[in-house]
Amino acid sequence: MAKARVAILISGRGSNMMALVGAARAADYPAEIALVLSNRPGAAGLARARAQGLAVEAIDHKGFPRREDFEDHLHRRLIENKIDLIACAGFMRLMTASFVERWSGRILNIHPSLLPAFKGLDTHARTLAAGARIAGCTVHFVVPEVDSGPIVAQAAVPVQDSDTPEQLAARILGAEHKLYPYALALVASGAARLAKGRVLLDVSVNLNDVLFSPAPPGKV
Ligand code: GRF
Repeated sequence: MAKARVAILISGRGSNMMALVGAARAADYPAEIALVLSNRPGAAGLARARAQGLAVEAIDHKGFPRREDFEDHLHRRLIENKIDLIACAGFMRLMTASFVERWSGRILNIHPSLLPAFKGLDTHARTLAAGARIAGCTVHFVVPEVDSGPIVAQAAVPVQDSDTPEQLAARILGAEHKLYPYALALVASGAARLAKGRVLLDVSVNLNDVLFSPAPPGKV
């Protein structure tokens, strides 16, 4: 089967992008990273992608009068590069419903919370303020409402009382780097597919997996 051609959209440092790029080097990975695109020409991730020899492009959103004009250009470049799937990885630009609909079922995003909890920005600080004992990350299909689309996969991590938002973010980021490559592979291979607004999986889950936080004695 031909590999899915993926464009990764970034705005910043691109650590999730690098995790996807690393995974896609495996011969049996079902997707190839055909393009890394940023709306910020200075994004550190662009230099990292370039150093990997990847096709890299910056489309500065500030150069377009309207959000729609930026998206039309983005859309054109994605089509010209024969992109099958878009993976947003720290892409800090809201997408219009019209763009999302053009790519419906073909855009993924990663968010650093166990959705539907803690949508939006300042996720880690809000997770701590709420006193959650378990946090995590979610890979989901993008729909017009922010952080709301059908969930492909999630990973959970414990929270400790002394955590700063930065410490929690680092712990979750480690999980993100494992989750996103796996979730993208599930979608690219067809093992995760959309059905009536939910994702159905062709892989089994281990029903005995439990993450305790804190862990009762003997559970660590
Ligand atoms: C990640 O925490 C991701 O979940 C969120 O933005 C951050 C991007 O980090 N959407 P990086 O650029 O991948 O390092």
